Amino acid sequence: MKNKRSIRKNYIANLAHWERRLRLGSGLILVAFVVPHLTNHALGIFSFEAMEALRDWLALVWRSTAGTVFLYGAMVSHFALALYSLFRRTTLRMSAWEAAQLILGLAIIPLLAFHAIFNRMVWELTTTEVDYQLVIATIWYKDFETWRILLLVLVVWAHLVIGLHFWGRVKAHYPTFLPFLYAIAVLLPVLALLGFIRSGLNQPYSGGEKYVDRMLNSPFNHKLQFIQSLEPITLWTFLGLLVGVLLAREVNRIYAMRHGVFRLQHAGGNSISVPVGRSILEAVRAAGIPHASVCGGRARCTTCRVRISWGLDRLPPSGQLEATALKRINAQPNVRLACQTRPQSDVTITPLVPANASPEEAYKAGGLSGSEQKIVAMFVDLRGSTALGQSRMPYDVIFILNQFFAELAEALSATRGHYAHFAGDGLLALYGLEGEFQQGCRDVLAGAAEMLDRLELLNKRLNHELDEPLRIGIGIHSGEAIVGTMGPPKAPTLSAIGDNINIAARLEAKTKVFKCNIIVSSDTVRHAGLIPDPTTEHKVAVRGRKGEIMVLALDSVNDIPGFHQLIITPSI
Ligand code: FES
Repeated sequence: MKNKRSIRKNYIANLAHWERRLRLGSGLILVAFVVPHLTNHALGIFSFEAMEALRDWLALVWRSTAGTVFLYGAMVSHFALALYSLFRRTTLRMSAWEAAQLILGLAIIPLLAFHAIFNRMVWELTTTEVDYQLVIATIWYKDFETWRILLLVLVVWAHLVIGLHFWGRVKAHYPTFLPFLYAIAVLLPVLALLGFIRSGLNQPYSGGEKYVDRMLNSPFNHKLQFIQSLEPITLWTFLGLLVGVLLAREVNRIYAMRHGVFRLQHAGGNSISVPVGRSILEAVRAAGIPHASVCGGRARCTTCRVRISWGLDRLPPSGQLEATALKRINAQPNVRLACQTRPQSDVTITPLVPANASPEEAYKAGGLSGSEQKIVAMFVDLRGSTALGQSRMPYDVIFILNQFFAELAEALSATRGHYAHFAGDGLLALYGLEGEFQQGCRDVLAGAAEMLDRLELLNKRLNHELDEPLRIGIGIHSGEAIVGTMGPPKAPTLSAIGDNINIAARLEAKTKVFKCNIIVSSDTVRHAGLIPDPTTEHKVAVRGRKGEIMVLALDSVNDIPGFHQLIITPSI
């Protein structure tokens, strides 16, 4: 039974993953069609010949078998995904831009139906070349069609721009390209409309009506009438699907209400009764509580993240999309994305990002903002780096340092360590951020062993480059610290501050005094579940702290009795 449940969860997680990819892929194909298409319209400012020249090239792509499959496949799947996401919404409360995106997207079908069907089907069924003059003539034939196309250009473009903007704005380099994209967003539709209007005014069939009448009376007229009859069929099918989805959504909602509710306690004081199946984001929105959601609930921005202070153990596990997003921001285990989490029993949440969050929040490591917790700090310093700099060319020094830091980073990732910052020739690493404190104490010892092993191998590898082997000093201490994202707004990192962090730095400095590789506080060793050997234990005074602390001065963590039995050091 449990196995069945986990298979279903995996299936749903994978489905969400592929749904997002399909939405993005189909959207980008449609962008690849719309942008050149509007550019083609814009050429109408110059002449029909210019329009035809580009159209011939575009027709080669989009009328080919592959182009047809991609284009129509993208249209159908994009529309189907829109209906599916409408069905899945348990509330129609949404932000203004999401509502605009949805309404504009749905409006495209009735506006586009005739234009798309006519252009393609005339060519397919009658082999009449649907060139610009013919298309413009059939559009200028009636005022209604003219206005419909003008509106279609604006609606399609607005839908596309909103979609691209909300996809791109959580990307780090988006602000760099924004002025350029902004210019395109304004200029392209304006030029396209001008080109369309000018070509309409200049079209050779001033009696457009006569031209279309002549077409309808041509030997192909029965085919043309059939083509015209497809428009109402398309519109009724669209309406039927839309109404069907809204009804199915309502049935689903009533079913969910009958099958249970959970209580959501919000840090702001509200307590909400929520039907099972609704996400936390949908629940708070339905209750009228503002909540950050830069990407509109697509697991991309992480601005909807909440800390679960009660009910965490009964939440369904994160799906692949959510887990990836949370990993990207180094979120703590009690942090979840409100847009992806659908509780089945009572929960208490605290939003971690202000409701009016900007896209920059998406770049920040998160979930640990300003929390105080017990962690383990490790300071590592490269010995003799000044001499290294004096004896070698700058390029060689950088090369050696990069190799050195790469090994340290590997050692950290192999032992669940998190680097807080590299500074000059040293680094601060944190352990125990994501798991238990005791496990962090064991991991940090494994990390120290891993670093020394890797350094030995690096020294062998760089044997011919170095006058003498690289050596490091490691200081380790544990205890309460303030952990959070810090640094300049565009480059914040997850780090920690506090007395215990300073002590780790001071212990590292003492490795020179004791002429050893590692100094670790005895308490950290005990928290790891080991008994310090009194012969290697020392009392040391640490600047900035009253009294002395007990430490172990070691050349290797293997000198701690029982280390090997307790800790399995990852192999290189
Ligand atoms: S709203 Fe963007 S990740 Fe949840």
